[in-house]
Amino acid sequence: QLVTTAAQLRAASARLLAQKGGTSQGLVPTMGALHEGHAQLARTAVVQNDVVVASIFVNPLQFGEAADLDRYPRTLEADLALLDAEGVDLAFAPAVEEVYPGGEPLVRITAGPLGEKWEGASRPGHFDGALTVVAKLLHYGLPGAGLPGGGQPAYRAYFGQKDAQQLALVQRMVADLNFPVEIVPVPIVRSSDGLALSSRNRFLSEDERGAALVLSRALRLIEERANAHQPLDVESAQALVRSQPLVELDYFEVVDPRTLEPLAENCKETPFRGEALAIIAAKVGPVRLIDNVPLDA
Ligand code: PAJ
Repeated sequence: QLVTTAAQLRAASARLLAQKGGTSQGLVPTMGALHEGHAQLARTAVVQNDVVVASIFVNPLQFGEAADLDRYPRTLEADLALLDAEGVDLAFAPAVEEVYPGGEPLVRITAGPLGEKWEGASRPGHFDGALTVVAKLLHYGLPGAGLPGGGQPAYRAYFGQKDAQQLALVQRMVADLNFPVEIVPVPIVRSSDGLALSSRNRFLSEDERGAALVLSRALRLIEERANAHQPLDVESAQALVRSQPLVELDYFEVVDPRTLEPLAENCKETPFRGEALAIIAAKVGPVRLIDNVPLDA
């Protein structure tokens, strides 16, 4: 069922929870142009919850240039079909005026220093805009009714590890500001050749798409070294990326998964043990791509 206002969403959620005798609700926030990565989020939410809501909203607040916002693919019919096929109960696709009546909000969430590094460095204000809409979406997605005995249904929201910095920031926001929701991370979905799925991949030419494989290849190199308890040798993985002429590397680092601070040099030069995250961003033709791999050895 498609709903477009907060009031419709609450009413439909209350009705479904009552009908199903449900005790849990899941929210899958998206910007549409859905692919198998989003489908995996939906699938996970459907397994874990009685009622599942997916939101589709292209959030103007998190885009830098207007051109990028205009170019963002909008494929509502196909998106609704995909959500339906995955068993999602409600699609919430509000208009910009529903989410931001009276224009952009005066009061916003500030991502802080964690929002200024990596992706934040090349996209100023991006994470403030993303967290502000995520805060709103988490409120929209609250279960529409309490349980018959007086308790609250469980409430979970699903975020992909593909956007590792966004996930870390959402987890901090929810913890720091006491949002009544459990954040569930979902592993990255890749195509069979290793490329992480992204709504932006459609803008890659055939040559660029081939070149883009160097990102996941470089990450896999680091992962293999970590699993073998070898020094990570970040430089040689960086060199691999730089050897691909169609790819312009922005950053490639191994960081702490929660703070996203780079690991100390000696941790990269000695046999690897512990937990870390290898992150990469690069421009391939007109498209900025990000990818990452969790290291756990
Ligand atoms: P969007 O880019 O549509 O992504 C929605 C969710 O799908 C995010 O949590 C993202 O990490 C996840 N996702 C995308 N590609 C994935 C893949 N290949 N594997 C696993 N998960 C993947 O992220 C946003 O929208 C927005 O910033 C949003 C959170 C909706 C706020 O506007």
